[in-house]
Parts: sequence; C-alpha cells; structure tokens
Amino acid sequence: MKQTKRANFGSRLGIILATAGSAVGLGNVWRFPYMTGQNGGAVFILIYIGCVLLLGIPCMLNEFIIGRRAQTNMVRAYSKLSGGGPWRLIGLLGVLTGFLITSYYAVVSGWCLQYVYASLAGKLKGDPQYIQQFFTDFSQNPWKPIVWMLIFFLITHFIIVRGVEKGIERASKLMMPTLFVLLLIIVVASCMLPGAGKGISFLFSPDWSKLNGEVFLGAMGQAFYSLSVGMGCLCTYASYFSRDTHLVHSASQIAVIDCVVAILAGLMIFPAAFSVGVSPDSGASLVFITLPNVFQQAFGSMPIVGYVVGLLFYALLSLAALTSLMSLHEVSTAFFHEELHISRRAGAWIVTSCCAVIGAFCSLSLGDVHIELFGKSLFDLFDFVTGQLFLPIGGFLTCIFLGWFVPKHIIHEEFTNNGRLRGRLFGIYLFAVRFVCPVGILLIFLNQLGVI
Ligand code: TRP
Repeated sequence: MKQTKRANFGSRLGIILATAGSAVGLGNVWRFPYMTGQNGGAVFILIYIGCVLLLGIPCMLNEFIIGRRAQTNMVRAYSKLSGGGPWRLIGLLGVLTGFLITSYYAVVSGWCLQYVYASLAGKLKGDPQYIQQFFTDFSQNPWKPIVWMLIFFLITHFIIVRGVEKGIERASKLMMPTLFVLLLIIVVASCMLPGAGKGISFLFSPDWSKLNGEVFLGAMGQAFYSLSVGMGCLCTYASYFSRDTHLVHSASQIAVIDCVVAILAGLMIFPAAFSVGVSPDSGASLVFITLPNVFQQAFGSMPIVGYVVGLLFYALLSLAALTSLMSLHEVSTAFFHEELHISRRAGAWIVTSCCAVIGAFCSLSLGDVHIELFGKSLFDLFDFVTGQLFLPIGGFLTCIFLGWFVPKHIIHEEFTNNGRLRGRLFGIYLFAVRFVCPVGILLIFLNQLGVI
C-alpha cells in the first residue's frame, strides 16, 4: 500500500484519550441518564452493558480495522477495501449521518455553554417554574441558542484546523483528565447527600418487570451512540493510529472508560435527584430543567456548594461535548480535505458552515418556527433517525462487509498487527462479526417493528 505523509496521533496515550474523548460525550452525561431514567434504571444498564460487550466492542474493532488498514477518510476506506463497488455507499451514509449528528449535537452543546454562563452569572436560581421557564424561553428563543451554537462550532473548528496531533490530540490530553476530576468531585458531593441511597439502588438493583423490546432497542442505540460506532468516526480516528497500536486493547480500554463515565454520570445525577424526591424520568430535559433545581434544593443549606457543583457540572458537560464534536467534525473534514483535494482548513470551513446552517434549523424547530417531519420536530427527528436507525444500520452493514466480503487475511493482519501479536481472540471476534452482531441487531430491529 502506498504510504503518503499522513497525519498521525503522536502517542499511545494520545490515541486512547482522543478516542475516549470521542466516545465520552453528551451521550454519557445527558442521554444515558435520561434513557436510564425512562427505561427502568438498573435493567437498562445491564442490557446496555450486554450490548456494549456483544455488539459495541466488535463493531468498534471493525471500524478500527477498516480505518487503520485504509489510512484514509471513511468513504475512500470502504471503497479501498472493497475494490470500488457499492460498499462505498456505507461510507457515504456515514458522512450523511455525521452531518446530521454534528448539527443537532452542536445545538445541545451550545445549550451547555449557555448554562455555564448562566450558572456563573447566578441566573439558575429560583423555584422550579422559573427554571422550567428559563429553559423554555432560552431553547425556543430564535437567535440565542444559535449564537451559543455558533460559538461552540467556532471553538471546535479552530481545534480541528490545528490538525490531528496539535489540535485534536493536545486538546483531548488536556480536557479528558479535567473532565474526570470534575466528574469525581460531583459524584462525591451527590452521593454524600442525605437520602442518596435511593438513587444508588435505582441504578444498581434491577426491576425486571420493566423489561421490554423498547428497552433493548434503546440500549442498543445508546451503545452505538455512546461508543461513537456506526458512522465512521472511529474509522477516521483509526486512520491516524500507528501500525503498533493494539486494536483489541484500545477498543476494550475505550469501552471501559466510556461505561465508567456513563455510570459515574448516573451516580452524579440520580442520588441528588432522589434525595430531593424528584423522579428522574423526565426525558431529554432532565439535565437542563430537572438538575438545576436538584442542585439548588439538594445543597439548599450550603448555597455556595450548590453554585459550584452546578457550574462544574455544566463545564464538564461542555468539555465532554467538545471532544465528541471534534471527532464528528473530523469525519467530514477529512472527507472533504481528501476527496476534494482542498486544504484541511477549507474542508473544515465547509463542514462548519453547512452544519451550522442545518443546526440553526434544528434549533429553530424547537421554537415557534414549526419545522416538523413525520410528526417530530427536526431536532427530535435527527436524534431518532441517527441514534436509533442509521447508526445500527451502519454498524450492521459494516459487519456484513467485513465479516463476509473483505478477505480474511486482511482482517487477520490488522487484528494481529501483521502477525506481531498472537491474536488469540480472533476466532471469537470473527464469529461475533459474522453472526452475533448482525443477528443481534436484526432481531432488535424486527422486534421493534413488531415482526417478532
Ligand atoms: N459518542 C459521543 C457521545 O457519547 C457522540 C458521538 C461522537 C457519536 N461521535 C459519534 C455518536 C459518532 C455516534 C457516532 O456523546
């Protein structure tokens, strides 16, 4: 294979932190807690962990293998490994999914940043109606959320144009440890509250009567979403991995970090919510409406602690969002940069401007400008279509592609770093990719469609 001078991550730690940065995001701190709250707590978590192990890790490995082998953007990677042909359509589906996720992800990221500002300025104080109104006024305001989204996009943009090592890797090395420290501080504060035990048992003692098909679909979608699988994000990052990177170790380490952060996010939110008697099943608004109240009430006797915890929480959310948005942005930036033969900077501008326009429509669709398709606002539609449909479909097709069409020796070479590793798990991996993952994804889909 022709080796061009291509950007690379500089170190092993950089690879883990940047990729974990992609995985750890709003999916862990915003989506996971509200999905857990709505789907019965511990049951959902167990099914989720099952999905990560059985479907998530093999699918991560698929993308790592394709990306590192092809050393190029995701559309070209699929066509390179298949020698042209229709398989490149998976790559295109990935870029499309990436565009949609990037756009609405940036809207929520903008909210996080706005909440950092609002916490700092002490505006998140007041009774529950006030906080509810604060969020409704803000998210339905035509221009404010768009301005915050644009700020967030520009921050992401300038990190991306600095390049893979100097931009993405350096930023992740700085942000991921900070995020972890913030997380631990808030978990400790939350678990020390009186009555926190109820929240902890909600997370860890399963109520099996809550189990149904939707829990499965939700957990699978969440596993894909949280691990950044299904649209070539990991494939793009893996194209910057070195030839020595141990793919199996990296995938497992990243999956563990991702699950730990999601569970810690639960331990940050549920004990505090239960301690003030708030039920955590309010859905997507959990973090933006329920939590500011929870923090205020829970730390009512020490308002300064409530203030600091609230502020740190939204700072954490923004950092998590930023490292993930970087990875989403990078997929399309690399695509334009390499396919249109333009500079990275120009590629990045195309992505930033297109996604900012789509994001603006998403944001407007939540307010008075009713942009609805299939009975959902554009925002909800993007979340549903990408999270629950496109990502599993992308993951499914990738399994079929790699498991059944790509020559086995290529997969083996990548799996074992050209024979330098023993690759003891290769058989299990191949079995998972050929049978377990496609059948699992299909069953969950069919069940949801009411066919079985
Ligand atoms: N995994 C990120 C999160 O948990 C979001 C994300 C980044 C993502 N890249 C992705 C989701 C690719 C799906 C596909 O917030």
